[in-house]
Amino acid sequence: MTSDSTSAEKSASRPLKNSIRMQAERLSANCFFNALLREWQGWSLHRMTKLSEKTKTTSAYLDLPNLPSEVEAVISFPMTEASLVICLSHFSISGRHQCILPFLFFNKEKKHYREVSFTEAVELVVKEDVLWKSDSTSKHLFLNRVFISIDNIEATLHYREDNLVSVFNDSVTFQASEQSLITGHSVHPTPKSREQFSLKDAELYMPEYGNSFKLHWFSIQDSLLIADSVHSLSFKSLTRSLAEEDTQFSQSLLNDIPSDHTLLPAHPWQAQRWLENEYIQSLLRDHRLNDFGLHGSGWCATSSVRAIHSNHASFMLKYSLSVKLTNSIRHLLPKEVIRGKEIHQVKYQSVIGSQLKKAYPNFDILTEPAHAAIKGEDGEPLPETMIVFRENPFNNEISNQSTELLASLTQDNPTGESRLVNHMRRLAAEENLALDVIVRKWFQKYLASVVEPLLGSQSNFGLLFGAHQQNLLLGMSSGYPEKVYFRDCQGTAIWLEPY
Ligand SMILES: Nc1ncnc2c1ncn2[C@@H]1O[C@H](COP(=O)(O)OP(=O)(O)O)[C@@H](O)[C@H]1O
Ligand SMILES: [Mg+2]
Repeated sequence: MTSDSTSAEKSASRPLKNSIRMQAERLSANCFFNALLREWQGWSLHRMTKLSEKTKTTSAYLDLPNLPSEVEAVISFPMTEASLVICLSHFSISGRHQCILPFLFFNKEKKHYREVSFTEAVELVVKEDVLWKSDSTSKHLFLNRVFISIDNIEATLHYREDNLVSVFNDSVTFQASEQSLITGHSVHPTPKSREQFSLKDAELYMPEYGNSFKLHWFSIQDSLLIADSVHSLSFKSLTRSLAEEDTQFSQSLLNDIPSDHTLLPAHPWQAQRWLENEYIQSLLRDHRLNDFGLHGSGWCATSSVRAIHSNHASFMLKYSLSVKLTNSIRHLLPKEVIRGKEIHQVKYQSVIGSQLKKAYPNFDILTEPAHAAIKGEDGEPLPETMIVFRENPFNNEISNQSTELLASLTQDNPTGESRLVNHMRRLAAEENLALDVIVRKWFQKYLASVVEPLLGSQSNFGLLFGAHQQNLLLGMSSGYPEKVYFRDCQGTAIWLEPY
């Protein structure tokens, strides 16, 4: 076996090894290839540890010179007369594998290989039609999205460089946890795409930059709003009380709102999109819509970017945001926002709701009881103006300080182990117990506090929650999962007849 990468090339790539760019590429490679391995079955796994069972191909990989010592398995992708080989430092039965860069491009015929970067590997996979056949424009678009996502992660790592250790080790508040999902979706080809945001927008509005911003307030003639609420307060009263409970909100502004108008708090980036719309401009000219600009206390983006939180507020707000985040432009549709009201009614106004509370007192669903959108010229709601009210139990010190986003707890650490592993090591030291004892204890509590209520809700009550890691918040004041909050009613379903 020979390597066709020269030693000069190798030493040139060495200083990159621990650079921030390299960290961003490794994090992105994990997200990209874990998504691919989950969705596509054409790869083969070769475990490096099972020497006795090794296949011919495995032994060929074992013969590769300079293979990093931590290699646990290799994944081989068939390509035209070649294969792309991904070395893994960890193969996970749950699919969160850990890649080692660079990858290897293995020419079986000529029996040589060369090292390839993550970006080159993605190009090979896309251009070779290994996975899907597509026109060159679509391929170019896709590749560009992957590369921009890496750049975005790199920019965040630079920005957060000084407090990365803290992100993966120190205690956090709910808000800080929501703002520390550095890589974004852990199983996605473009985990940090945000096409319509400039870098300046990203610094202000992407949660991982840790900044806050004021809401952009409007008032709108009641008849121009398509609003609904199953809360005891109407949408109109809810936005007013949101302003009233904010000590930074100007009282004189509140006094000036015409009685036939509803106060409308907009996401400040989205407000600019509203103002570009000619129809909305005409409403402003006619004073059917009034623009008051930025007011009140700071709000912070949560991990989904479009849902925002403020420590003082009784509700979080979830918005239509005209930004392509991971796979889609994030507009809320009328049929989606209905679910939040239904779940609210089930939670507070049904027998199932009281039974669920009794069965799982430490399981909470953040309902979304009210929403509104501006009525378009055709009488239909304008999707880009949708606003949803979501319950906010994290407006007091106790729940705010002991609640963490599951996705942040388990995300890859660019320079070490995940927050969850570090947390378990700390528990082991505090309790003077072996790490594996702590791991089992923690997982048992996770099953009881998180998994059981979710499965029981479905099997016993007919309530299905799309409970992926970005939708679950764990209350862990004792260090172990003891409370779980589910959010994101767009990902729920209800069967009236339990099965
Ligand atoms: N592990 C994950 N699973 C699913 N979505 C994730 C994950 N990590 C980050 N995300 C991001 O969360 C967003 C989806 O949440 P969304 O429905 O917009 O809001 P919310 O959860 O606040 O209701 C997407 O932009 C997606 O990229
Ligand atoms: Mg979500």
